[in-house]
Amino acid sequence: MITQENSNLIIKEIDTSRIGAVDFDNLTFGSDFSDHMFECDYKNGKWQEPTIKPYGLLTISPAAKVFHYGQAVFEGMKAYKDDNGDVFLFRPEKNFERINKSSKRMAIPEFPEDYFFDALHALLNLDKEWIRPGNGNSLYLRPFVMATQVGVSASPADKYKFMILMSPVQSYYSGDVKVIIAQEYSRSANGGVGAAKAAGNYGAQFYPTNLAKEQGYDQVIWTDANEHKYLEEAGTMNVFFRINDTLITAPISDRILDGVTRNSVLALAERAGIKTDVRKLSVDELVTAASDGSLKEIFGSGTAAVISPVSAFCYNEKDYTLIKPADSYATRFKKELMDIQYNRAEDSFGWRIAVK
Ligand code: COI
Repeated sequence: MITQENSNLIIKEIDTSRIGAVDFDNLTFGSDFSDHMFECDYKNGKWQEPTIKPYGLLTISPAAKVFHYGQAVFEGMKAYKDDNGDVFLFRPEKNFERINKSSKRMAIPEFPEDYFFDALHALLNLDKEWIRPGNGNSLYLRPFVMATQVGVSASPADKYKFMILMSPVQSYYSGDVKVIIAQEYSRSANGGVGAAKAAGNYGAQFYPTNLAKEQGYDQVIWTDANEHKYLEEAGTMNVFFRINDTLITAPISDRILDGVTRNSVLALAERAGIKTDVRKLSVDELVTAASDGSLKEIFGSGTAAVISPVSAFCYNEKDYTLIKPADSYATRFKKELMDIQYNRAEDSFGWRIAVK
């Protein structure tokens, strides 16, 4: 954790809101942005004045290192509104810790904690009208950092920009997803950046995901890069498997993102007395479980989708279909998480943070 004196946040407010032009009932995920954004530059070894200003274009040199070496990391978080109009964040300290962990991996300087939280609270106060109450509605927050130093020498930049954008969203996926198990491409490798929310980590998934879509699948289930033997993540999410009544997910490693939703699902399962097994699960074991009927569910977990149930998976060109059980863990955890996020249930974990 680093702090830098007092944040002295500078706020430049908009003259006229753009909110009237937004159709909140027909949003495309992450396409509309609220009135204000946060910006803070790093130079001379120090983060400069943190500033909130009207959302708008940036002027950046085409030679900025981010465009050439992808030195950029991001976070995904959400703000929720309850039926009384009060606004909440969900475990924001986890996102703060993770963006600095990702930054460290990408040789980007860490961001001060007080700057981050002052910015979040101020932005959400300014743009709280952009958050609609109701299940699935939220304001998706996108903190990110990029290398702005001009120059194409392949070395870490000495200038950066930390920003936070906010986008009103509805549910990420409309229904259950069909996935294909990766047998050729990989998401991450030992010693790589899989555990970081590095921008290029996501961009590298687009091509194999397009190939999966051409074959009629929505997402790729990523396997280990060495042998394509172990199940690691699903699309941009962590992934859970329910075999009989045990919930299995891959252990955190330098290949796997330490997901906030993943961590919360494990805590909810343990509280409910559901057996959890954080271990490597092989594709062979999954196929056997699908064939003998002991595989009950597969679901992804992430900030954007919350919980995303898988209705079928493909391996070796064979499809395996899953019938959602009456006591679906995916349905249960999604409801429990959202009840906490929308302030409809007691939060014994202390995960829900009121925006003041
Ligand atoms: C998340 O759900 O946590 C994500 O990072 C999704 C984002 C890439 C849209």
